Amino acid sequence: MTAPHRTTIHILGLGAMGTVLAVDLLRFTNALVVPLFRSQERLAQFQKANGNKLSIRKLYLEGSPLLSYPLEKSECPETFARKPIDNLVVTTKTYQTKDALAPYLPYINESTNLILIQNGLGVLELLKEEIFTDPKNRPHLFQGVISHGVYQDKGGIFNHAGWAGMKVARLPWTDDEMIQKISVVKDDAANNSLVRLLTEPKFAKEFGIEHSTYQEMLSGQLFKFLVNACINPVTAILDCLNGEIKDSCGSVFTSIIDECLQILRVAYRPLFEYHENFNGNKEYPEMDINGVLTTENMVSEVTRIGCDVNAKNSSSMRQDTLFLRDIEIGYINGYIVKLASKLKLDPSCCKVNKTIEELASLRLALNRSRNTNGDWRND
Ligand SMILES: NC(=O)c1ccc[n+]([C@@H]2O[C@H](COP(=O)([O-])OP(=O)(O)OC[C@H]3O[C@@H](n4cnc5c(N)ncnc54)[C@H](OP(=O)(O)O)[C@@H]3O)[C@@H](O)[C@H]2O)c1
Repeated sequence: MTAPHRTTIHILGLGAMGTVLAVDLLRFTNALVVPLFRSQERLAQFQKANGNKLSIRKLYLEGSPLLSYPLEKSECPETFARKPIDNLVVTTKTYQTKDALAPYLPYINESTNLILIQNGLGVLELLKEEIFTDPKNRPHLFQGVISHGVYQDKGGIFNHAGWAGMKVARLPWTDDEMIQKISVVKDDAANNSLVRLLTEPKFAKEFGIEHSTYQEMLSGQLFKFLVNACINPVTAILDCLNGEIKDSCGSVFTSIIDECLQILRVAYRPLFEYHENFNGNKEYPEMDINGVLTTENMVSEVTRIGCDVNAKNSSSMRQDTLFLRDIEIGYINGYIVKLASKLKLDPSCCKVNKTIEELASLRLALNRSRNTNGDWRND
């Protein structure tokens, strides 16, 4: 009798998102889950502090149980087995992606499946233009748009606070592959080892996996992007909880969203023209994005989701500025600024997002300066 096949999945970035995914893979699949740490020191720290176990508290389950699962193997660049990687999950912060991937590039080839599970936009462009520049040696790329909410508490425990699932799709390497046929999804579901693992029924149900075409995932990704482009920088700049600005955020959200949509419409034209070109064709899924991705609807949705449903939340960018950590602004509002330049649009067309990017960076710099030099307002 042959042993059942075991999929190996490496996780680059064992923070909040890496842990929530790894724990459910350990709970519901027989995959070999191997985290990749940045250094031998971080690996040793993890092994000492956690006894080689991954733990997460499931706050949304009755009794908020702490689930702990042992890891069979953990690696870092110094200990890495130097064999090709089959499946790689990237759950670093967006701005950490390039450095984190660097030691493992020799082991990523055209058979590797690489999935990005990150907020924001722009890492795909980074991979195309700066990392996998040889079209013959590019991995199969996927994106996970994750809506689960996880934070690390003062004791170092990760808390899975909000359960909301993850949309998964194959990413196109070129713009002319932006619209996918349903057959791409079916083929990956049947033959791609990463998609097969992520869509195993027990895991998919527990983690809320929705596997779709790129264009379906992209419309959800742009929706989430617009929420992040408003809530994250504005609450970080103002240093407030989301709900505090509910009655006064309409004007600034309108300016941000309107400008983002004007530029996204140019960059993702096939998506915005999908209705005319693909609806009604049985080879493609039916989609209605034009009623969703409008300024009016998005201002109302961002205010509802950001400031109403999550009124007591402190956004991740505000948290990062309070704890003096780098922020992902370059992959949110900064992405819009980069897109405008790449598309050779008039620089004035992205002035709102440029200013928002500058103010969020200034907020972080101010907090860092106050931490070093004291708060002059108290003198
Ligand atoms: N947390 C959430 O609720 C949430 C929800 C939706 C989306 N997201 C998005 O998901 C992404 C990940 O966020 P997160 O909250 O999971 O971040 P995080 O907790 O900061 O985790 C990032 C992890 O990446 C590791 N890392 C950084 N550089 C590395 C390197 N060179 N080699 C190996 N590991 C490295 C970090 O390790 P060190 O400790 O060694 O730096 C850390 O463990 C972000 O884009 C975020 O916006 C987060």
